[in-house]
Amino acid sequence: MKKNKIAVAVALCMAAVLTACGGTAKTETTKAAGAETTKAEAETTKAGAETTKAGAETTKAAESSAAGGKLVMVTNAEFPPYEYHDNNDIVGIDADIAKAIADKMGMELEIQDMAFDSLIPAVQSGKADFTAAGMTVNEDRKKNVDFTDTYAQAAQVIIVKEGSEIKAPADLDGKKIGVQTGTTGDIYAGDIKDANINRYNKGMEAVMALTQGKIDAVVIDREPAKVFVKENAGLKILDEAFTEEEYAIAVKKGNTELLEKMNAAIKELKDSGELQKIVDKYITAE
Ligand code: ARG
Repeated sequence: MKKNKIAVAVALCMAAVLTACGGTAKTETTKAAGAETTKAEAETTKAGAETTKAGAETTKAAESSAAGGKLVMVTNAEFPPYEYHDNNDIVGIDADIAKAIADKMGMELEIQDMAFDSLIPAVQSGKADFTAAGMTVNEDRKKNVDFTDTYAQAAQVIIVKEGSEIKAPADLDGKKIGVQTGTTGDIYAGDIKDANINRYNKGMEAVMALTQGKIDAVVIDREPAKVFVKENAGLKILDEAFTEEEYAIAVKKGNTELLEKMNAAIKELKDSGELQKIVDKYITAE
């Protein structure tokens, strides 16, 4: 019930990108521009020949998994420690896991950066073979893509300013809440009574709005929240999480061949301790 309502709301928002969904018209415009810039930056790091090839190969990408060669991954590299920019590279837990999976499959890995809410459409259209983006498995997404076995426990947490009157999820009623567009934070914040949801292209932008007093709280995944709170003075994460979730990689619906290969690789990475090693490289125990 609750989820259906949310799904409809999200669908309406997507359909209404141009007509604006609540106060998001401005955000959407900036996002389109922002996404383009990021993509352009990513492309410039590649050789010119590569860029043309990438375009020509979009239709081939879907077959590439079966044919051997290159695996195209899409992500939204605004999500440390899972994926973020390090100079011209996209690094992080997901990037390393994807590389390890590709290695096991004897394939090359190409990572493309785009807006978070473009990831599932890119996989559905075959533009990309898969997305690894700290993506939470949920029933609605399962209608559009197939998920591998999960590889991480996650949670949505609440960031507030130190001294905030918001002390638990129940205190969010009627508050201005910042989220990254299309994330589970966005979706589940819709359950909050009289929520005034402010959508941003990047989680970090929501955090900036919080430090500037434009919003009262940010709902976002726990590990990125820790990174953002560390980088910005005067913020804290509430003890009580908002939701518990799990991350998995998503492939095109029905691409069981790739799904099975990826699951086999993920299992190997888990069993050998390699996966934990990757996590430990980016997340230091408190
Ligand atoms: N786990 C959340 C979701 O699946 C947020 C993921 C955001 N990931 C990113 N790379 N920006 O909706």
